[in-house]
Parts: sequence; structure tokens; C-alpha cells
Amino acid sequence: MMPARDMEDVTVGLVGLGTVGTGVARLLTENADRIARRAGKRVRWKWVAVRDPKKVRDVALDGIRMTTDPAEIIRDPEVSILVETMGGIDQAAEVVLAALDAGKHVVTANKAMLAERGREIFDRARKAHRAVAFEASVGGGIPIIQAIGVSLAANQVQSLAAILNGTCNYILTKMTLEGLSYARALQQAQELGYAEADPTLDVDGTDTAHKLVVLAQLAFGANVVTRDIARRGIDRLDLADLTYAGELGYAVKLLAVARLSDDGLDLRVAPTLVRKGTPMAEVRGPYNAVRVVGDAVGDVFFQGRGAGMMATASAVVGDLIDVVTGRALITSRVLDPWGDADRPIARTPSNKLRRRYYLRFIIADRPGVIAALTQVLGAHGISIASVIQHDTDDAPDGSPVPLVIMTHMAVESEVEAALEEIDRLDVAHAPSVLLAVED
Ligand code: NAP
Ligand code: HSE
Repeated sequence: MMPARDMEDVTVGLVGLGTVGTGVARLLTENADRIARRAGKRVRWKWVAVRDPKKVRDVALDGIRMTTDPAEIIRDPEVSILVETMGGIDQAAEVVLAALDAGKHVVTANKAMLAERGREIFDRARKAHRAVAFEASVGGGIPIIQAIGVSLAANQVQSLAAILNGTCNYILTKMTLEGLSYARALQQAQELGYAEADPTLDVDGTDTAHKLVVLAQLAFGANVVTRDIARRGIDRLDLADLTYAGELGYAVKLLAVARLSDDGLDLRVAPTLVRKGTPMAEVRGPYNAVRVVGDAVGDVFFQGRGAGMMATASAVVGDLIDVVTGRALITSRVLDPWGDADRPIARTPSNKLRRRYYLRFIIADRPGVIAALTQVLGAHGISIASVIQHDTDDAPDGSPVPLVIMTHMAVESEVEAALEEIDRLDVAHAPSVLLAVED
């Protein structure tokens, strides 16, 4: 093999030197020889664009040109690959589109941009004969884009269930296993570099929905945008529900689910009960996991660090090597990730969705109340699998108490209708809580 120092160069510009950009910069500097051997060319990091050039950086910048204007990098004819780690949607998309127009290949970690403007970006890349590589956009260091897009390409994917947000999984783990408050756990996730610049996107489920858009596009050719995905985050979860779920033998995870059936494609993001002891329930901290069921392969499960500097940088630099070797361009052309869907896929109507549910009510503690509730549930064909009501001997008659019900398989539209009815009963003291169960 040719010594790395004698190899031809390929010149790279980096837009963004935050958590991910710093990790990329470190790998390019510290693992330069290894990267050159794998890529067959030396990767010469020439430029970096940042917002604030005065900020102290956590990586050596000797010989690197710094700018606050990404267009300066795009204008440099020596640069053939632009690595976008700036985040955001429209500004990042404009940078990426301009880079493609200028004949650069692009590597990006930006799922928000892809979820909202992926079609336009991949159209432009196709016209420009350039690659857009995006492994780091979903699952951090887990090579899930390569797995679904290439390695499992022989399959019709039937379903995906995934933990796709490291921040939320970190928060849920810290709250349930270490008793940390939500606010403290979120602060730690931010300090560790897991959270988005605006962490609301993490905790309200939007970041997970962005990633589900990318996976649904790859796995099903489903032309969806973020607003098409029913989503709830962990920001309004009550600690009591984590505790009751634990008593029932379940962990609560922010789960992204995509399921194809004869009735259509169901896509959703929500805090979901997963049975303890299953691989999904045991995914902890900033780790992500993706369970894919394909018609040929059956069930495959991927797990790894889903957020953070070096795990994400590993995926970005892996993509960079793929671009340098030419593999990414071939994959991009053949895979055509945002190409037209083979056939339009209808969304599954809620009267065709069947799953088990966790329900929590705050009801008046007096005779006949549980009977009134179960009568409503029964009228909607909802059968009860188990119930938790703790002893409240000390409480005065009629005071509000929690009642938790785990259902058998039930139709979603019926469950929603039943809860609306129950919430109108005068014995209901607070809106009921509904969480899906993924067995
Ligand atoms: P970050 O820490 O906020 O870094 C953003 C970087 O971009 C900063 O260096 C910032 O400059 C620079 N920047 C922002 N706007 C710019 C502009 N208009 N012109 C030039 N530079 C600009 O974000 P991050 O966590 O690294 O995330 C970056 C991207 O990777 C996002 O799309 C994110 O969703 C994605 N991602 C993040 C992770 C993770 O674990 N953090 C994992 C996977 C994917 P200053 O430093 O001067 O402010
Ligand atoms: N904020 C994201 C997360 C970064 O916590 O998963 C990785 O995409």
C-alpha cells in the first residue's frame, strides 16, 4: 500500500465547529494516516466556517483558514467536499445547495434539514452528479443509513421501532435509574453535547420525527415531512407514569415506530412502554437502537451511541471516506434516497390501528367509580389486562386517586373515544393519560 504521505490530496471545508464539527476536526487531525489509507487519498482539511471567530476552540487550528461566511469556502476551487455540521434548516440547506451547484460533494449530519428539504437537496445532487452522504443524521455512530439503504436493500422493510434521540434516552435513564430531576438530566445532556442547540427539539419529539422521516424515506420510499408524523415528546411525561410502568414490568422509551400493513403505513413518535428485559428496554443513556423487520432478514437490532462528539464524528468521517473513494456517489445514484416513491403509501387510519395501551386516570375514590370507567371501556370493546390502584385507606372518601389500567389489544380510535367520554365524567379529576405499549 502506498505510504499516506505520498498520496494525492483531496481538500475539504468544514462548516460548523461545535460538538460534531470539533469531533470531525479531531479525527481529521489525529487519525489522518488511517483515514488516508482507507480513502486512498490524503484528506486535507483547509477551511472552517463558524459564527463567532473569537470563540476558543477545543481543537488545533494551525494552518486552517477560518471564515464566518460559508460562501468563501464554496468559492474555493480546491475544495471538493463540504462537510456541513452547522445545524438549522434553511440556512444549512442554502449552504448545501450552493455547494452542490459549485460541484462539491456534501457530507451532513443534519436530519432537520434533510427531513424538511431532502427532496430538493437530493434532486440538486442528482443534477449536479454529486453525492450527499448523511450517515450521521440518524442514530449517531450506528451505521443505520448504510444498513437500511444498502445492506438490507433486498428486503421489503415491514417495520421499524427505534430509540433515535440520545438526549431523551439519557434523561429517561437518569430519571428512572438515578432519580435525577428532569431539569437536571436535561442540563447534563446539554453539557455532554448530546442536545440540539435548541433542546426543545429533542424533548418535544421533533428531532426523533426528523430522523423517522429520513428512515421512512429510505425504508419505504414514503414521501413524508415532519408535520405528517404524529408525535409526542417526553417534555410532558409525569414521573408517576415511569413508576407505574416499572411496576407493570415496563420501561418508558421515546420510540419512533413505522409499520407497514395492508391498511397503510403507520408513523409515530411517542413515549411508549417497552417490556423490561427486551433489548430495547435495556438501551440506556445516550445510546440509540433500531429494530428493523424485513421480509427476508427477519428481525435485526442495531445499538450504539446515538449522540455526542466522537460517535457522530465517526459517522461523518466514515461518509467522508466513502465520498473520497467514490462509493458514496455510486450509492447516492442507485439508492436515490429522495427519489419518487414506487407507489403512494396511504397512512393507516386510526380505526385500523390495534395495540395495547397504558391508561392512567385520576378519579374520585368512592364506590362504583371503577365500574363506571370499565363500563365506558367495555362499550368501546376495550378489555382490561391489569389494574393498579394503591391502598388509600387514609384518604377521605371521594378524594382523587390514581387508577392505572393496562389494556389488551384495542383499536386506537376506540381508546381515544373512550378516554374523551371518561374525561367528561364528573368523577374524573384530571385528563387521562394514554401511552402506547410496544410488546
Ligand atoms: P453546535 O454545537 O451548535 O455547533 C454548530 C456549529 O455551527 C458552531 O460551531 C457554530 O459556530 C456553527 N454555525 C452555526 N451557524 C453558522 C453560520 N451561519 N455560519 C457559520 N457557522 C455557523 O451543533 P452540533 O451539536 O455540533 O450539531 C451540528 C449538526 O449535527 C446539527 O445538524 C445536529 O442536529 C447534528 N447532529 C448533532 C449530534 C450531537 O450529538 N450533537 C449528533 C448527530 C447529529 P460557533 O461555534 O461560532 O457558534
Ligand atoms: N440531539 C440529538 C440527540 C443529537 O440527542 O439524539 C443526535 O442526533
